[in-house]
Amino acid sequence: MWASTRTVSLIGAVGHLIEVQVDVSPGVVATALIGRPDVAITEARDRCRTAVVNSGFDWPSSRRITISLSPADIPKRGSHFDLAIAAGVLAATDSALPSSALDDSVLIGELSLDGRMRCVHGVLPMTVAAAARGIRRVYVPEPQAEEAALVPGVEVLGLRSLRQLMAVLKGEEVPGAPPVEPLTVQPLLSWRGEDALADVDLADVAGMADGRFALEVVAAGGHSLLLSGPKGAGKTTLAERIGTLLPDLGPDEALEVTAIQSLAGTLPRDGRLVTRPPFRAPHHSATRSAVLGGGTGRVRPGEVSKAHLGVLFLDEFPLFGTDIIEGLRQPLESGQVSVARGEEEATYPARAIVVFACNPCKCGQYSATMIANDCKCRATDLRHYQSRVSGPVADRVDVTRHVKPPEAWELLAPLGAREHSAPVRARVTAARARQAARYARSPWRLNAHVPGPVLTRDWALPRRAGQAVAKAVSSGSLTHRGATRVHRLAWTVADLRGLDRPGVDEVEVALALRSGEPLPSGALPLPELPATGTAR
Ligand SMILES: Nc1ncnc2c1ncn2[C@@H]1O[C@H](COP(=O)(O)OP(=O)(O)OP(=O)(O)O)[C@@H](O)[C@H]1O
Ligand SMILES: [Mg+2]
Repeated sequence: MWASTRTVSLIGAVGHLIEVQVDVSPGVVATALIGRPDVAITEARDRCRTAVVNSGFDWPSSRRITISLSPADIPKRGSHFDLAIAAGVLAATDSALPSSALDDSVLIGELSLDGRMRCVHGVLPMTVAAAARGIRRVYVPEPQAEEAALVPGVEVLGLRSLRQLMAVLKGEEVPGAPPVEPLTVQPLLSWRGEDALADVDLADVAGMADGRFALEVVAAGGHSLLLSGPKGAGKTTLAERIGTLLPDLGPDEALEVTAIQSLAGTLPRDGRLVTRPPFRAPHHSATRSAVLGGGTGRVRPGEVSKAHLGVLFLDEFPLFGTDIIEGLRQPLESGQVSVARGEEEATYPARAIVVFACNPCKCGQYSATMIANDCKCRATDLRHYQSRVSGPVADRVDVTRHVKPPEAWELLAPLGAREHSAPVRARVTAARARQAARYARSPWRLNAHVPGPVLTRDWALPRRAGQAVAKAVSSGSLTHRGATRVHRLAWTVADLRGLDRPGVDEVEVALALRSGEPLPSGALPLPELPATGTAR
């Protein structure tokens, strides 16, 4: 006797459809599970038998049961195979179950020993993968039905027990069962100030026209940013406001971001898609796997992936572990991150705007331009710190800005004179729409994502603008990798200015943004003047 059911195996954020084939025949009494199962699935054999028996069904223990998971070359992970395995065994032995009952369906869920369903991580990306392969119906643990139903075009059935599944498949009356415990995502404790970033606005920031402009460019083109400056200059204040300049996520983007939260186990239980771009700011004491992904046991996405399509803010980044900073090269270059576990590799999306902030030295007082400065660092410490800033990150950062503390008169200027986030977000949205139209037939969305060779081939700079970049390269002030970054930035500046293509002016702004030099005059809006008093 033979039956087959289907479920999904997740490798990183990519789901593969897995066929669970069950054969029950006379022979040596045994249950064999083949096709690269991990430890959790190997345990499923015993769990499923107990769950089936305790649900009042027969387990064919006097015969040989072969359970094969295919395709054989894809590793199978997780405890959610239980439901597909138990249903497969029952379908192979129960003649009352129509063989077509599980066509077009995927089964997701862990079983407890008494046959009740248990919630699992990653239901949303599994459902996305199933729907993409033409599956029309998905069975999940009841508390996760809303999550699966976020995927358009699939019928979702939430179940409390194996008995309920069998009743549904046979068209019988569905028996009652106690409710299933949801996955806990609520922290045991909450504290005041948790949502401190919920209502920040760019209008909180006085002065800093240069920094604000950099934020706008970065938000519009998806570029990476390095903010350096002395203590209290406003680096953190500025970086925390970048999220307010980003438009809402589109429907596909919302699904991507929500799917990562489902994998990470941080999905709020309101059954809604995440529609605002995430903002993640890990502390510098965070581990490599917390930032980049990984972990023992179940591999989870890290902060770089949780920040996907939003902002990853690394405050005081020279204090992060060297391996973390090195590990950020891959996501900065490619928009995804690979996490190795044993011989396998999982890949997660990680396309965030990365904002680095640092002091000029460890004590924060060093100034290269002042003859007498108050820096208390030893010369070796200073060199070590500065090498961490200039080394691995600098070449991969698009925009560098040196932040100065606001002048007293800027802090005193009337609040009404400061621009709010909303109008800046409108300009960013318009610039992003221009990019979306330009890249409509390609896989990228923003200037920062377009690979260098494609940029040179399809979106070359006009002759004179190109010459300005070439001049900077030949004078040694710009590396080749830097030239590509300037090229992308020039497009973003043109998009913000509503131009069809960048000219020499836009390239000059881009060169200054990249090098950290002051912007050309006229690039910034006029400074806010105090209502009274003297402007310097
Ligand atoms: N431009 C500004 N407008 C309004 N407030 C500001 C501005 N710059 C700094 N502040 C205020 O100064 C304080 C210190 O700013 P912030 O923490 O952003 O500085 P920082 O550059 O990150 O310093 P550190 O190097 O110590 O981390 C904050 O309370 C912030 O509100
Ligand atoms: Mg700070």
